[in-house]
Amino acid sequence: MTIHMNLGQDSYDILVERGILARAKDYLNLNRRVLVVTDTQVPAIYAQTLAAQCQSAVICTVETGENSKSLGGFGHLLQTMLDHGFSRKDCVVAVGGGVVGDLSGFAASAYMRGIDFYNIPTTLLSQIDSSIGGKTAINFGGVKNIVGAFYQPKKVLIDPKLLETLPARQISNGLAEAIKMSLTSDKKLFELFENGDIESKLEEIIIRCLNIKKYVVEQDEKEAGLRKILNFGHTVGHGIESSREMELYHGECVALGMLPMCADSIRPRVMKVLQKCNLYRQLDYDWEQIAEAAFHDKKADGDSVTVTVVNEVGSFELKTMKNMEVVELAKTCLEGLKV
Ligand code: GLY
Repeated sequence: MTIHMNLGQDSYDILVERGILARAKDYLNLNRRVLVVTDTQVPAIYAQTLAAQCQSAVICTVETGENSKSLGGFGHLLQTMLDHGFSRKDCVVAVGGGVVGDLSGFAASAYMRGIDFYNIPTTLLSQIDSSIGGKTAINFGGVKNIVGAFYQPKKVLIDPKLLETLPARQISNGLAEAIKMSLTSDKKLFELFENGDIESKLEEIIIRCLNIKKYVVEQDEKEAGLRKILNFGHTVGHGIESSREMELYHGECVALGMLPMCADSIRPRVMKVLQKCNLYRQLDYDWEQIAEAAFHDKKADGDSVTVTVVNEVGSFELKTMKNMEVVELAKTCLEGLKV
């Protein structure tokens, strides 16, 4: 299945096909120098499978985790390309999850003012969300994704077969972002989460999410408005994530962050879906730390922030709220939940 992202001269195809990693050279121009970026948690065979199809490949394996999205990690990729004589005609391929995609996409955007970038996401989260849409970034000064660029890939290859080696907790992590998209934009997908056998429907879930993301990014590539809905649950989620960095995954925090932003009338349904996907947990929240982290984030604008609110499944409202109002709402909601 091919999904075309229509962004004028930055348009590209997203190909979804089982086993496509082994046939990548049929779709990507690999007859040049290729920097293959992966991380220590991705099975090494994935990057090797890609490298074996390249005329001249250099594999760069970064440490797994957010710490690699640093100036040091960025510099390491640039230095590797320089050391191996990469020119403007060469390319970078990400074979990994969101960290690998964000870091290597940013390096591709900067090296010689931009060389071709391909993404082969290997986690559910990156297959449904972060690998498409052109957001690349590193963390800096303790703030996530504060330095980066909108830089669209030339092609994205999505191989659902790669998910077979993914631990169950990482599947749940990706499902959180899929639930997010269903709540704002796809009632039928939300009903699939409520009533369906999720494990056997992963490909359908990926394709529905990609179509939502395609629509949103085509309308608002640079996040002036509509694209903010992809941050649904992320303001509070980021706050929780920063205060629990070593303990919780991104999707697990976004899942909790969505709950206060749902109307009371739908929250019990959302809770049930989160529980079904192992995404609900009761925590001792440190609200001061959560507020500090949530609003020292680039999405905050002074003392207010635009958040997405879902009053009915499949629809959304963008609402500007005072930072403290958001924290109070989250506190009342999350502290008051009875499981
Ligand atoms: N993952 C959020 C976005 O691409 O805008």
